[in-house]
Amino acid sequence: MFRKVSAFVLAGVIATAMTGCGSTSTPATGTDSGKVADDGKITMGFSQVGAESGWRTANTKSVQESAKAAGVELKFSDAQQKQENQIKAIRSFVQQKVDVIAFSPVVESGWDTVLKEAQNAKIPVILTDRAVDSADKTLYKTFLGSDFVEEGKKAGQWLVEEYKDSKDPVNIVELQGTTGSAPANDRKAGFAEVIAADPKFKIAASQTGDFTRAKGKEVMEAFLKSTPDIDVLYAHNDDMGLGAIEAIEGAGKVPGKDIKIITIDAVKDGMQALADGKISYIVECSPLLGPQLMDLAKKVVAGEQVPARVVTEETTFTQEQAKEALPTRQY
Ligand code: AHR
Repeated sequence: MFRKVSAFVLAGVIATAMTGCGSTSTPATGTDSGKVADDGKITMGFSQVGAESGWRTANTKSVQESAKAAGVELKFSDAQQKQENQIKAIRSFVQQKVDVIAFSPVVESGWDTVLKEAQNAKIPVILTDRAVDSADKTLYKTFLGSDFVEEGKKAGQWLVEEYKDSKDPVNIVELQGTTGSAPANDRKAGFAEVIAADPKFKIAASQTGDFTRAKGKEVMEAFLKSTPDIDVLYAHNDDMGLGAIEAIEGAGKVPGKDIKIITIDAVKDGMQALADGKISYIVECSPLLGPQLMDLAKKVVAGEQVPARVVTEETTFTQEQAKEALPTRQY
């Protein structure tokens, strides 16, 4: 059985290397206690947030394709952006006695009970993409995903640089991600911290657009009516920014000129809008977490130590850089 497990781990390492997807990690936590099915095949229960954005669609594809390539049997569940659906899915994975559970938590709070149930059943849990705020860090083996605070900071740093020679006030509106989610909380905090250095930056309005294009459009329409003289839109993802572009154009304004737009993700549609001059700057958030997830899953199931935190390496894009990157963009 051990030889089979080692082969799986090796396959995962190769798959990770093949994607060229970099990451940095923090030191390992304690020993993991996993098990493998008698046929040597790992079964993973995966609870996805939903299909709210281009990013999420690319993330689902990455997880499904990587599971197939790595020989992992995937039980996939779409929570349609509802925490109760994720909790139900995790309970069902526990009942089915899967080898490992992975999930991307829609919000940060409220997971301790169900994670304890998985722990009592000796099923290791991996957080992917988003964090939970549980004080008990033994409830999960590792957390693979982006540094969302850093993403917010990068967005703020671009803005500070862009307006460095201006003394006039800069009116910003913010489209937040799903309320209570790690990316919404952290991207807001990182951005706010950086722009706080100069009082000319003012967040005139800030509301959730739930990471969707439709809600981004709807909320931007309301901002345009309620907030005079908007200089900048900061949207926590591309999809909300793309919805907002429709609202801005509908109001007879020119996105990228009358209102500068900063977004996060760098999915193809966002990159196209950036190359077209409608978006001014994008901070990348990579959805291609599948190969690393399979690699980590094999290790925790084999009882190997894994880093407590694996941070995805990401970049940023200007309009010129988007034109160069678009032809080979994978998602
Ligand atoms: O958790 C990652 C975020 O979730 C992405 O930035 C957003 O597009 C998605 O819906």
